[in-house]
Amino acid sequence: MNIILFGGGFDPIHLGHLNMAKQASKIIDGDVYFLPSRLSVWKEKSAPVEDKIKMIELAIKDEERFHIDLFEVNNGKEHNYSIDTVRYFAKKFPNDRIYYLIGTDQVNEFHRWKDAEELSTIAQIVYFSRPQMKVKKENVDKYHIQKLDCDDLVDVSSSEIRELKSLKLTDEVLDYIAKHNLYYMERLHAYLKDKRLSHCVSVAALAYKVAKAHNLENPDRAYIAGLLHDIGKETESREIMEKEFPEFVDIGPFSYHQFIGSLIARRDFHIEDKEIIEAIEFHATGNANMSDLGKIIYASDKIEPTRSFDSSDLIKALMEKPLDEGFRIVLSANRDFLISQEKSYDNRLTSNCFKFYLD
Ligand SMILES: [Fe+2]
Ligand SMILES: [Fe+2]
Repeated sequence: MNIILFGGGFDPIHLGHLNMAKQASKIIDGDVYFLPSRLSVWKEKSAPVEDKIKMIELAIKDEERFHIDLFEVNNGKEHNYSIDTVRYFAKKFPNDRIYYLIGTDQVNEFHRWKDAEELSTIAQIVYFSRPQMKVKKENVDKYHIQKLDCDDLVDVSSSEIRELKSLKLTDEVLDYIAKHNLYYMERLHAYLKDKRLSHCVSVAALAYKVAKAHNLENPDRAYIAGLLHDIGKETESREIMEKEFPEFVDIGPFSYHQFIGSLIARRDFHIEDKEIIEAIEFHATGNANMSDLGKIIYASDKIEPTRSFDSSDLIKALMEKPLDEGFRIVLSANRDFLISQEKSYDNRLTSNCFKFYLD
């Protein structure tokens, strides 16, 4: 049997890792062993090793050929050398062929690795080729390093996830991070109290499901927009509105958090995606001519399952009907609700939205 060793911080494990593991398993025809390391070298806050392990377990649970091995976590050493790991596996699986997967950038550094020569005789060193990345021929030749060809690697890094720039994760890992307050969730807590943050997580989870149901590209953007949509709720003020959004002061205080939220998303969370910013900026009022992402956030906010009414039929409509139709159904229900509560919706953004989509 072939055994592929895949070490890393996995802080957290993401779809890029899983895709690489799948490709390697297919090309080499082997089982993959994920080897989380105890230490994290990142400057930003890392997750506790127990959480990293749980997330790997969740991410690989349906893959028969994927395993986790805690040798590097449990070996008690402050710094783990790959040579120790490879020797351990050679002993554990004496009849199998061992492959060791390294990063493209590590090919050029390989001669500096501890006992590189011995390492490359016990294990076949492999790496994925990346366009625009030159590898040192000297190292490739000397250590018989093998290139794995793959043209559809998922482009994402763990640091992008920690910073809420991209959330290319399995659904279970996304939920795990939200439940255990890891990475970006900790930052969100600085802006939102528990109850409101739970609402944001619920909007994010629904928006993500809806985006996937409608085959939106990068549905993780819907999750990010959902998480951030109410981020301005506890910071809103008329002063900020007059300074930053004077043209919208007349819309009314109920709407201020959407504008200030979009500001916080840009300024503090460095969100550059225009559609995410706009989805936050008009999630409470709605607007004419909204993007698909904008419609999904608006609707998910109104009907997420922890709201105090039975929204299951509306959720079903939003998931199963064509997106525009589902959105109109939610919008119309919201208009009926506002009328029944004798709440006015005569601000120009909301009336433009109703006119554009419903009349
Ligand atoms: Fe809101
Ligand atoms: Fe909300």
